[in-house]
Amino acid sequence: MISEKGFILENGVELPFLGFGTYKVAEETIILDALEAGYRHLDTARMYQNEKMIGNAIKNCGIQRRELFLTSKVWKGDLGYDNTLRSFEASIKDLGVQYLDMFLVHWPQSAPDADWKPVLTETWKAMERLYDEGAVAAIGVSNHLPHHLMHILKDCNTRPMVNQLEFHPGYAQSATTNFCLNQGIQVEAWSPLGRTRVLEDPLLLELAQKYGKTPAQICLRFCLQNNVLPLPKSSSMERMKQNLDIFDFDLSMEDVYRLTTMPETGWSGQHPEHF
Ligand SMILES: NC(=O)c1ccc[n+]([C@@H]2O[C@H](COP(=O)([O-])OP(=O)(O)OC[C@H]3O[C@@H](n4cnc5c(N)ncnc54)[C@H](OP(=O)(O)O)[C@@H]3O)[C@@H](O)[C@H]2O)c1
Repeated sequence: MISEKGFILENGVELPFLGFGTYKVAEETIILDALEAGYRHLDTARMYQNEKMIGNAIKNCGIQRRELFLTSKVWKGDLGYDNTLRSFEASIKDLGVQYLDMFLVHWPQSAPDADWKPVLTETWKAMERLYDEGAVAAIGVSNHLPHHLMHILKDCNTRPMVNQLEFHPGYAQSATTNFCLNQGIQVEAWSPLGRTRVLEDPLLLELAQKYGKTPAQICLRFCLQNNVLPLPKSSSMERMKQNLDIFDFDLSMEDVYRLTTMPETGWSGQHPEHF
């Protein structure tokens, strides 16, 4: 669902239209710049090893905790009930906060041959406990394909509210995004710019010229018009601001379909069942 300010999750939690990606961000000044540029949703993960640095930025930014939306994730090497609870505790300790706005299961399985179903069941029970205890306002997953979600959905008490996926022109994962849309699960886009791999594509260049925008802005608008929440990362204030400046134009439906159906481009090579 959508409000004037952003997306609304199944349990009523609201989050801004865009979040700021922090993978490989190691400097506090970049987080402070992103907050100054206007981002309020920060996406991190235990695996990024930058939660302490982000915690310092949160302490020093002068913005109230309740104005921020903080997401972290439990890594695939830490799945299971106890490990998930431990990972959450480590994340909030390093971030220096009392609660998280969102906590995600980063990947559904630890290895290609892993017997993932019982481990994912236990992991999800821990996620539900954190949610029931009020330690986190929303729980969800990342890189989960429909069959992973079906396994969770079949006997969970609290449904996943979000699935964070690689999503950009040239890699729209339509089977999974449509499954999520039909299930009321909000999709977030990681690498919404294809980590720059799609920005020189001829179709992106054509549409950038047509709409008077940059290829990056076309990618981000493409996310929003698919009801997907993008998480662009940038280390430059100019590009951070550019990435927020996407609310003064609409892609035509024809162009959205052209971007959705273009040949596969810029895929990271990452897949939950292939390592
Ligand atoms: N759940 C997962 O498994 C998963 C996996 C990967 C990523 N993520 C999350 O998603 C976030 C974003 O993904 P990402 O960091 O992989 O890639 P991305 O946001 O698609 O691309 C980041 C790259 O694009 C450049 N860039 C940013 N804005 C630009 C613009 N307007 N014009 C041209 N270039 C621009 C950045 O360079 P500069 O820094 O120089 O601006 C950087 O090299 C991550 O930071 C992380 O939070 C999640």
